[in-house]
Amino acid sequence: MSNKKQSRDWTGNKRSIYATIGAANHAEEAREENDYYATDPKAMELLLAEETFSTLIWEPACGAGHLAKVLQKHGHYVISTDLINRGFGVKEPLNFLASTATGLYGDIITNPPYKYAMEFVEKALEIVQESQKVAMFLKLTFLESKKRRKLFEATPPKVVYVSSARLNCAKNGDFEKYQESAVAYAWFVWEKGFQGDPIIKWIN
Ligand SMILES: C[S@@+](CC[C@H](N)C(=O)[O-])C[C@H]1O[C@@H](n2cnc3c(N)ncnc32)[C@H](O)[C@@H]1O
Repeated sequence: MSNKKQSRDWTGNKRSIYATIGAANHAEEAREENDYYATDPKAMELLLAEETFSTLIWEPACGAGHLAKVLQKHGHYVISTDLINRGFGVKEPLNFLASTATGLYGDIITNPPYKYAMEFVEKALEIVQESQKVAMFLKLTFLESKKRRKLFEATPPKVVYVSSARLNCAKNGDFEKYQESAVAYAWFVWEKGFQGDPIIKWIN
């Protein structure tokens, strides 16, 4: 397998994500490539204006900390981890999908790698205690698909906050280069144990 192929694989298929756990020699191109899209911190501010969260938050795909820093500013104690050390948070790479953590008496908030968004939601709901929250910044199209319908039926989000104006996610954190977004995003907020019809609200 070529290096190029391998570097694509860590976000490109499940098997290699697991194979990557603990590996210290990620190719430089793997660091730059795919699935690192820093979130406009404004997205976090908008959610915090609507929702209250526990003091303890785990940001399990923290990137360079664009969400975590806002949470810290608001007084949260944030555990920030990522598969790739991007110079923020815990230095050791942590594959969230392979985490064995359970019973977190805190909330999980992130903008996950979109390819594994559903897996991130399922894992986060597994990890937190009953009544704790899981908030994921996702494309609005996450609402679609038969596969995810099963997730929504079994574990409906409590609120979906649709961003009326486009919020930006910048590839490799380069907000200068990527100033506009063609993608509609929403915050999906679960409260573990909630069974009922989700509410849709509009922010921004
Ligand atoms: C869309 S970026 C978002 C970064 C940050 N949450 C933000 O909002 O600015 C997704 C991040 O997920 C990380 N990632 C990808 N797969 C992961 C995994 N299995 N476990 C933990 N982090 C992962 C990537 O390294 C990347 O930093």
